[in-house]
Amino acid sequence: MLRVVIPLILALASAADPWPFDVTELSAPDGSITAKFVSLGATLTELWVKDKFGKARDVVLGYDNNTLLLTDPIHPVFNAIVGRYANRIKGGTFSIPITKDPQLPGPNVYQIPINDPSRESATLHGGIKGWDRRNWTIVARTPTSVTYRHLDDADEGFPGNATHAVFSGGILRSSVYATATQKTPIMLTQHVYWNLDAFQDGSANILNHKLTLDASRTIAVDGNQVPTGPFLNVEGTPFDFRHESRINKYQDNSGNLCGSGCKGYDNAWVYDLKDHIVHPGTSLYSDLSGIRLDIMTNQPSVQVYTPIDVPIPRKVIHGGPNIDYGSWPAVAIEQQGYLDAINTPEWNVDQIHYPGRDFEWSTEYRFCTVL
Ligand SMILES: *[C@@H]1O[C@H](CO)[C@@H](O)[C@H](O)[C@H]1NC(C)=O
Ligand SMILES: *[C@@H]1O[C@H](CO)[C@@H](O)[C@H](O)[C@H]1NC(C)=O
Ligand SMILES: *[C@@H]1O[C@H](CO)[C@@H](O)[C@H](O)[C@H]1NC(C)=O
Repeated sequence: MLRVVIPLILALASAADPWPFDVTELSAPDGSITAKFVSLGATLTELWVKDKFGKARDVVLGYDNNTLLLTDPIHPVFNAIVGRYANRIKGGTFSIPITKDPQLPGPNVYQIPINDPSRESATLHGGIKGWDRRNWTIVARTPTSVTYRHLDDADEGFPGNATHAVFSGGILRSSVYATATQKTPIMLTQHVYWNLDAFQDGSANILNHKLTLDASRTIAVDGNQVPTGPFLNVEGTPFDFRHESRINKYQDNSGNLCGSGCKGYDNAWVYDLKDHIVHPGTSLYSDLSGIRLDIMTNQPSVQVYTPIDVPIPRKVIHGGPNIDYGSWPAVAIEQQGYLDAINTPEWNVDQIHYPGRDFEWSTEYRFCTVL
């Protein structure tokens, strides 16, 4: 086997783009996929795959100026690793061991900052400064992979590392390994905003993308988008994507599919299979570009989010900066654990980690083209 001694990864740091916005570029040996990352949030900033004409497109939303990952008040969490607890925590409150409706003050009851922009009633994506806005450190690199490490020492020593790797055949694999020195909830995700047309050929949104989810249940939520306890059968509802369907098939502009005043989808599905290592859990396809994405994961659930408006300038490659991403520009697909299981003890889902019970998240994105 040929060993490449000199790392071929480009780690670029220009004066305008100081650390932690250093760019690491990975390319698969066969040229089928190229990915760029920055250390802030171990964030994917560009992902280039080939369309049905053989031309490369950058299929993820983002900024040309990566400094905005840290400063943009809209804070869409473009393509970062999200933690230590992704998605919403009801009231920003939980207990260890977990209980229903823990009250403050109480023994082992914790209150963390409320930061959900639309709800004022939940912690979203790890709080005011979640892992997506933390400065990760590169600890390992090869020509096709990079590993970032982050130590979350808010109150417990809590190291984690995230590895991104590309492979021939159009594959990006991301994995996160985390250990805790004390009992703590851990639930992570990677928050990628996909647009498989990359705003080319007159396409401005994802409403004609086709989605498939191996899921016959969603998690019922209240108006504040936190679980009420039951799971809902998707049969005969706008949540049924068991067979490939256009995302806009039931596009509900009157709202409320995903909480009070919430338009489009921002919902958690529970996968039917326990993991999707062999079969995809989620697939996304656009016949315009011919790009198909199959997502394999070890996670039991997926959050699908179609933002109604993203008032952020598009990347130049997406036709910006004088045009915003605008209406329905992407679908965020987040492989994750059960939403707010730490406040839903009736599910018997254990998301508390401690020495000897590490956390492992892995997801593989496989691209191909369909003519
Ligand atoms: C990038 O954004 C930051 C924060 O808004 C700003 O200070 C900086 O000037 C921008 N850089 C470029 C090259 O536009
Ligand atoms: C990020 O961490 C590196 C060391 O790993 C340090 O040099 C740099 O100043 C840090 N940046 C910020 C913004 O904290
Ligand atoms: C990632 O973390 C795990 C567990 O701490 C460790 O075994 C592994 O060596 C780490 N990998 C890197 C590249 O740091």
